[in-house]
Amino acid sequence: MEEKSFILPTYRFLKDSGKVTWKAPSNIALVKYWGKKGVQIPANPSLSFTLDHSATITTLHFSPLAHESSEFSYEFFFEGKEKKDFRPKIDDFLSRIEPYLPFLKHFHFRIETSNSFPHSSGIASSASAFAALSLCFVDMERMMTGSMEEALFNKKASFLARLGSGSACRSIQGPVMHWGNHAEVEGSNDLYAVALPFKIHPVFSSYRDTIMLVDRGQKSVSSTAGHQLMHGHRFAANRFEQAHANISILKEVLGEGNLDKYVEIVESEALSLHAMMMTSIPYYLLMKPNTIAIIQKVWEFRLDTGSHLCFTLDAGANVHLLYPEYEEPQVIPFIESELIEFCEMDGLIKDQVGGGGQKLS
Ligand code: DP6
Repeated sequence: MEEKSFILPTYRFLKDSGKVTWKAPSNIALVKYWGKKGVQIPANPSLSFTLDHSATITTLHFSPLAHESSEFSYEFFFEGKEKKDFRPKIDDFLSRIEPYLPFLKHFHFRIETSNSFPHSSGIASSASAFAALSLCFVDMERMMTGSMEEALFNKKASFLARLGSGSACRSIQGPVMHWGNHAEVEGSNDLYAVALPFKIHPVFSSYRDTIMLVDRGQKSVSSTAGHQLMHGHRFAANRFEQAHANISILKEVLGEGNLDKYVEIVESEALSLHAMMMTSIPYYLLMKPNTIAIIQKVWEFRLDTGSHLCFTLDAGANVHLLYPEYEEPQVIPFIESELIEFCEMDGLIKDQVGGGGQKLS
């Protein structure tokens, strides 16, 4: 599909006020998106598990304006409080999606949003936030068109979410999402994410992700700035090639349920992402001593027990611990006795693979 196919033929704008509520989860990349071009076009394909409990719930209230407005007309509330400092980001997002949602300036919106995870946890909420808001807007558009096929609905929600934050496009559906052109993934493209079109071994349908909150502070370098540093990066071409190759391997591994190979690819991806940060100019480090302490403990635990517990990292210090559900009786006591001391205020979030966005009203 091309960009223009997301501009739907004419439809009748709603005459009445109304509201829609959607919940969208966060996601954790197994193969990392790092580097982009143009308007949110990824430099390499990525693959993620959709999460379940870490989610944003957004209600979009809409009321028609008497006349088209010259500016976007909206109020934005986060956890019950009006948040003016979020407006520049939302304005940018609305400007980017307006060509695909021609009704935006014909309505006043009240956007109410809240997260299931603490705002101060250092967990990126932009993926779930842009996914939830995009689902609300496409749902509103569906009301105006009378109907919309589910496949188009999901593609368009993912397409719009991508324009807010790249990784958000992988939060619309689950359990395993793929985003970005890849020669071996049919239907893959740079504009929106698709559910990985291969058999997934049942062990992955209930895979656990326990998120260790090592650092709740503001990151020293934002993801957006980090992506930019891949332009002219001396290892960029190799990194992009590595991501393609890792997806080729991982799609087999996910089908076979080969957990040893899974652990190898996932940890290698996490460390490669951070290696790109350490070798950017300017270079920087987002891991903290406690990030490394957890990684080393995980490696020792695997050697001692034969477990498949492994880690991955986003662009930050927090550690995502991934393991099969059946290892929970072994892994949880280990986390609680050996790893919790490395988390700020003993913070962790227990999550697992999930199914994607859900309509709540
Ligand atoms: C390391 O999606 O946050 O988490 O498109 O600038 O909003 P923007 O970046 P963002 O980057 C995510 C980077 C990552 C890897 C990943 O999720 O694939």
